[in-house]
Amino acid sequence: MARPRVLSGVQPTGALHLGNWLGAIRNWVELQDDHDTFFCVVDLHAITVPHDPALLAADTRRTAALYLACGIDPGRSTVFAQSHVSAHSELCWLLNCVTPLNWVERMIQFKEKAIKQGDNVSVGLLDYPVLMAADILLYDADLVPVGEDQKQHLELARDIAQQRINSRFAPEDAPLLKVPEPLILKAGARVMSLTDGRSKMSKSDPNEGSRINLLDPPELILKKIKRAKTDPTIGLVFDDPERPEADNLLGLYALLGGRSRGQAAADCAAMGWGTFKPLLAELAVEALRPLQERYRELEAEEGYIDQVLRQGRERASAVAGATLERVRAALGFLPVA
Ligand code: TYM
Repeated sequence: MARPRVLSGVQPTGALHLGNWLGAIRNWVELQDDHDTFFCVVDLHAITVPHDPALLAADTRRTAALYLACGIDPGRSTVFAQSHVSAHSELCWLLNCVTPLNWVERMIQFKEKAIKQGDNVSVGLLDYPVLMAADILLYDADLVPVGEDQKQHLELARDIAQQRINSRFAPEDAPLLKVPEPLILKAGARVMSLTDGRSKMSKSDPNEGSRINLLDPPELILKKIKRAKTDPTIGLVFDDPERPEADNLLGLYALLGGRSRGQAAADCAAMGWGTFKPLLAELAVEALRPLQERYRELEAEEGYIDQVLRQGRERASAVAGATLERVRAALGFLPVA
């Protein structure tokens, strides 16, 4: 029997951080054992906000290298750049024409990002979740492993597949597109900012101190954690709505140190911040060390990442091309002679 399909991706905007790792990439690694896994670097999404053309290619390569450094194995997974498979843009157009405008206008991330862009909101930013739906639907993905913030986008992808394509253009017993399920693991699904426990850790936060990047050197990790926002109470606890920073940092302590939540809470129940912070920094440094070492090795192998992306593109194009053809035919386009 065919293994269930998985697709996910990260934008190559700026540096990847602990939230991207704990909420997404780390969970991709185990899925490789018994799923058919596709991981793309979503470079077309990266230009939905103003970007620097001089950095895009290098950021795309670096993001792919980080996938590998985190444990994605190109021998078992298809790793590719979204823009290298033109079917993503083409299916996005077809989906655009059946997606109601008010479905995308109500996306929370669009509203949040649009506020930051002021007068400069592109049509691409509004269309971001439709392109994301195309990414997923092209591969007939059964599962999409992501952080909590992507839940609404996945619901949209499901609605487009089911209500706007399958129910309109396919017989009930032979759906055109697979309706995907989100895979959002509770632990790590929402890593919060180090400077504000009520907002999520994000690449676009102008304050560098708000996040730990996967390639941050040990001294910088220690510095950022030492400066992280705290509260005046001694002892760290989970789930106190008045103490979001304690909840977040204790969650990181558990995840990075491989401890259960109960164990972490017991370890830190009476701990002052001055004792806790260096411990957390050490756990973060140790958790990231193997990944950083592997990244440096990959960086030194000239041409290797490009070769991985080339090979990924071939496999991804074959799968995506077949789905696109299916949709084109169902929508009634004249076949290419
Ligand atoms: P991006 O690059 O913003 O985020 C990549 C992944 O990281 C997760 N994430 C977090 N998880 C926990 N805590 C956080 N603070 C945190 N910040 C980010 C995100 O949920 C995501 O899983 N739109 C996607 C990219 C995308 C995609 C796709 C994903 C485009 N097409 C198709 C899956 C399938 C995004 O948010 O990227």
